[in-house]
Amino acid sequence: MAASSPTEPPHSGPPRSTALVTGAASGMGRAVAERFLAEGWSVLGVDRDTTALDKVADELGAAFRPVAVDITDRAAVATALGSPEGLRAVVNAAGIYPPTLLADFDEPTYRRIFDVNVLGTLNVTAEAVPALRGAGGGSVVNFASIDAFAVSPGQLIYSASKAAVVCLTRSLAQELAADGITVNAIAPGWVDTPGTRAGGRMEQAVSTIPLGRAAQPEEIADWVWKLCHGTYMTGETLVVSGGIAVR
Ligand SMILES: NC(=O)c1ccc[n+]([C@@H]2O[C@H](COP(=O)([O-])OP(=O)(O)OC[C@H]3O[C@@H](n4cnc5c(N)ncnc54)[C@H](O)[C@@H]3O)[C@@H](O)[C@H]2O)c1
Repeated sequence: MAASSPTEPPHSGPPRSTALVTGAASGMGRAVAERFLAEGWSVLGVDRDTTALDKVADELGAAFRPVAVDITDRAAVATALGSPEGLRAVVNAAGIYPPTLLADFDEPTYRRIFDVNVLGTLNVTAEAVPALRGAGGGSVVNFASIDAFAVSPGQLIYSASKAAVVCLTRSLAQELAADGITVNAIAPGWVDTPGTRAGGRMEQAVSTIPLGRAAQPEEIADWVWKLCHGTYMTGETLVVSGGIAVR
């Protein structure tokens, strides 16, 4: 990738608002990026997969600015993001979900899951908040999971990491309220993404979902868009699970 620096592309007309979206090279991160682009925003698309990010950047056009960085490295995040102007939304969609049980987990896997899902969310939010403040406030949306609330067999460490995301969402909402920044989370159930398909468990899981199907990434992106435009909601986690939460 030639440039990972978020410099403003040529644009005539009123300045666009900017959204920072992590995990933008795949699945729900990409769908969120596409939703904001469709609404006329520009998007800083963060991902560590440079090949996939280059491809997405080619497909989505100049208003999508790729930022190739691993979110577990705070110094690298700070350098890669710089001080983006007009930043009004941060969506922390990057995450990993390798299966673990008490019987087979190891420390490197534990650290990897918490480093990406928890520390990565904190790193990006911490480095983006000055730009949100500079723009007069905005919204942060974190990706939790239904697994933070309902047991998903084989997701011992992942579910704990997503429960941590629910908790840090509440604390950050309180810490950032005075800056005019709302912080909410979304907790999807099964979503048809490349990551889920690679896990190989989705087909079997669908029969247990009351609505009878996995969500499409665009359906989750729709709720993320709404969470970035609510006026009196902060510190909440919105469960969008096709009924798993109530079965
Ligand atoms: N897919 C589901 O059914 C589901 C359900 C509930 C919650 N979630 C959560 O939603 C989010 C998105 O899931 P998805 O299925 O769209 O994921 P995905 O696997 O399709 O895409 C995740 C993206 O994040 C990027 N990424 C991973 N680690 C990174 C890092 N350290 N730095 C930068 N980028 C990194 C990957 O390269 C990838 O492009 C995740 O946080 C996931 O835990 C997913």
